Amino acid sequence: MPDIAREVARRRTFAIISHPDAGKTTLTEKLLLFSGAIQMAGTVKGKKGGKFATSDWMDIEKQRGISVASSVMQFDYREHVVNLLDTPGHQDFSEDTYRVLTAVDSALMVIDAAKGVEDQTIKLLNVCRLRHTPIVTFMNKYDREVRDSLELLDEVESVLKIRCAPVTWPIGMGKTFRGVYHILNDQVLLFTAGAERDSDVTEVIDGLDNPRLDELFPLEIEQTRMELELVRGASHPFNLEDFLAGTLTPVFFGSAINNFGVREILNALVDWAPAPGARDATVRPVAPSEGKFSAFVFKIQANMDPKHRDRIAFLRVCSGHFERGMKFKHLRLGRDIAANSVVTFMAQGREQVEEAFAGDIIGLPNHGNIQIGDSFSEGEALAFTGIPYFAPEMFRVVRIRNPLKIKQLQKGLQQLGEEGAVQVFKPLNGADLILGAVGVLQFEVVASRLANEYGVDAMFEPITIYTARWASCPDAKRLAEFERALENNLARDAADSLAYLATSRVNLELTQERWPEIVFHETREHA
Ligand code: G4P
Repeated sequence: MPDIAREVARRRTFAIISHPDAGKTTLTEKLLLFSGAIQMAGTVKGKKGGKFATSDWMDIEKQRGISVASSVMQFDYREHVVNLLDTPGHQDFSEDTYRVLTAVDSALMVIDAAKGVEDQTIKLLNVCRLRHTPIVTFMNKYDREVRDSLELLDEVESVLKIRCAPVTWPIGMGKTFRGVYHILNDQVLLFTAGAERDSDVTEVIDGLDNPRLDELFPLEIEQTRMELELVRGASHPFNLEDFLAGTLTPVFFGSAINNFGVREILNALVDWAPAPGARDATVRPVAPSEGKFSAFVFKIQANMDPKHRDRIAFLRVCSGHFERGMKFKHLRLGRDIAANSVVTFMAQGREQVEEAFAGDIIGLPNHGNIQIGDSFSEGEALAFTGIPYFAPEMFRVVRIRNPLKIKQLQKGLQQLGEEGAVQVFKPLNGADLILGAVGVLQFEVVASRLANEYGVDAMFEPITIYTARWASCPDAKRLAEFERALENNLARDAADSLAYLATSRVNLELTQERWPEIVFHETREHA
């Protein structure tokens, strides 16, 4: 019997959040270099001797240019097991990107120091805030001309509303980037360019006042000493408690492409970021070290190949000991699942480990009977909470070319909505169905799956909706009045929850002002 508590304590599960082009991919590669294991998933296992779809997943990757394999990367570092979850950006940005953040215990925020805080980072950080997720910050690209470092910290504090505690501080930038000063260790780490370094060959000089530094780069070190005076006055000292509460972020500086400053952030994640903790469920919180296995679904990846309708559900393990071949229950359907076709995400080049503990992610192939938010356990009927649907930011009206296919369309959208691929709204007034998403990819996926799986040729047309808010009110009478008064702007979603579809930000604000008793929710819990 494994020592579950020990296994949990050495796990770290995090995601990288960033705006496209800030350097997430580059940084991920470097993190994997440190672990000595560049590899990801791809270890899809046979289903009762038959071959399950390794190549199918590769096909999807080719077709869509996405990487199923790199959705989850597990590697060892300093006696720890690190799970790094991808948050797809660019054209793959979707509601799943948000939901991945409900499955991690901490996040690494990467900022392009030439650009500062950008759009997608703001959105992703807002999601982290829902669960007070601890954030480590990396200011990237110091080998280039970047913005003033103090100004960057100021922007993080004012825009993202999180206090900054610089742990390292850059010495120069661009052509005169000399390295970083480690404030807590009182050491200077010298910068050398070179993308391929995989071992720690950084030269270290002790003490900020070390005369060697004045010999090496007198101008930059003098400037740094002056800046640090300011930094000490203007920023916050690192404090573990505030970091764990999600109110303070340790900030590191470096250059991902030169693999400089990367080891320091990995060390911070291992030393400071939390191990998997207790998770809320309907009956009671579940502790990670409990003996019985439990998990929830935070993401479903559908196969886009019409010949193979398999999809893979990503489960975050919350407690117990998962072993290949074990049986557990799919609680919503009350069905037993024999876990012999489960996908684990292990580093290549070592023996296939067939077990998982809290914090780890396992993939469950299925044919569409698993939904976002579903819970699994070895026994007790508990449903994990905190895996929400997020207010969509893009909307389309669905039209079909062949009206005879309306039944198939409704069925398809119902199922795709339940699965979490897209949100489906049925206006209280009118027959059109409205789709809501947080990324355009979701519409493309739905159009293609409607065609392939349901034989429906659907067209999606733009509609002027700014956002949706789920509406509730403790006073049922008042809610009914609200429904009557605003029925042209109200709809019900796949779970029959009432949603207000605002035509603009101003429209939303005015409505909120006029109906103070109504609560407008930005997320909706899985039903
Ligand atoms: P993303 O996953 O966040 O979208 O970013 P990615 O790692 O792909 O990096 C975006 C661009 O920024 C890439 O350049 C990458 O080489 C560059 N980059 C990443 N880290 C650093 C850094 O520390 N310094 C500098 N100077 N550049 C960095 P690209 O031109 O878009 O692609 P490539 O042709 O260089 O691969």
